[in-house]
Amino acid sequence: MTLWETGVIRTLTDEGKDDLLSRGYSRRHMLRAAMLVGGGAAAIAMHPEMAFAAPGAAPGRIRIALNECWTGPMAPGAKAAADIISQCNRYDPTEVRVKLIKTIAAQEKVPEDHILVWPGSNEALARSVVAFCSPTKGLVTADPTYETAGTAANYIGAPIKRVALTKDYSHDVKAMLAANPKAGLYYICTPNNPSGTMTPVADVEWLVANKPAGSVVVVDEAYIHFTSGYPNNTSTHLVAAGKDVLIMRTFSKIFGMAGMRVGFCMGRPDMLKKLLMHDGGALSHDLPIPSLAAAAASLTAHDLIDQRRKELVEVRGMTQDFFKKRNLRMILPTEANMLMVDWKTKTAHEMQTAFAAQNVELARTFPAWPTVTRITIGSRADMEGFFAAFNKVVSA
Ligand SMILES: Cc1ncc(COP(=O)(O)O)c(C=O)c1O
Repeated sequence: MTLWETGVIRTLTDEGKDDLLSRGYSRRHMLRAAMLVGGGAAAIAMHPEMAFAAPGAAPGRIRIALNECWTGPMAPGAKAAADIISQCNRYDPTEVRVKLIKTIAAQEKVPEDHILVWPGSNEALARSVVAFCSPTKGLVTADPTYETAGTAANYIGAPIKRVALTKDYSHDVKAMLAANPKAGLYYICTPNNPSGTMTPVADVEWLVANKPAGSVVVVDEAYIHFTSGYPNNTSTHLVAAGKDVLIMRTFSKIFGMAGMRVGFCMGRPDMLKKLLMHDGGALSHDLPIPSLAAAAASLTAHDLIDQRRKELVEVRGMTQDFFKKRNLRMILPTEANMLMVDWKTKTAHEMQTAFAAQNVELARTFPAWPTVTRITIGSRADMEGFFAAFNKVVSA
């Protein structure tokens, strides 16, 4: 082990090192876990949307590749951030972080000590894999799904099982349990990225009731505010009931704050402690206060949330009609700001290249479905620009 590697491992707390060694991590995998929780180069590679972001801002480029919101932070959030800028010579003079946690607790009906905030939920997601998987405790995910958990598991040498979605594109929870009845972590993304499809709460409950003792179910609800069933379709009640469940949320989607980097997770305090163990909790506490203030002010802006959902449903409907008229198969029903379309005779990669030449950014390929592209639903103008580009690409 080089001096540099020894230094990286030293960033782990003693408790964190003992925990990793006792769970079968080799020194090499411990190094990787240290890099992952230390926010080094690994963290960027773990964020699938950021890793694929095209740099620069070409004039008129239509950015519908990364599932970002089509518009910026909500007005109350932007105001709260602006109002606190003048106090940013202090670390957190008005306890904004605590205020955000109190707001989340009241909104989601979970106790305050069941909540941790992060610079985006991706961070919590990667850490949950370090905390609950190991070279002997695997990960089970759907396929296709959001990649972070799988990338993190691969990075630390944990075995991975990827299970196809059901015919109606929900997570096949029975097949997921059968794929590895002794896994450390079962990852459910609902609505699922990239398909936008939901997994019924009853299926999440089934998995939680039948999974092996000591394992966790992580429910990623990054897109939940876009869904028509919200708030009756979340799994937060399982956290409040003390189950082995972690729920991930982000302000990067409907709240339009991807660049402000705020997310949170909810779970039992003993589970949350495991996410903090390896770096002594630093990252969850050191967050920019304008971002925290914006998050708190946005979370309860219910009218604005409803308005954005309505706008999405309209523009997504318009996009569906466009594909339907051209007899293209779609993955339906999507409940989020994304829609998958099957080109059938072209690969997603070929179409990404063809659209890039028209100044339209499309998503990366999801290898389980090589001819299907995830289209992020942008603004009405974005989608009209996409339709114009489509006509050029298809007639070329
Ligand atoms: C399903 C899902 N989970 C988590 C994230 C992470 O978001 P962030 O780190 O920006 O909070 C994303 C981002 O695209 C996502 O699609």
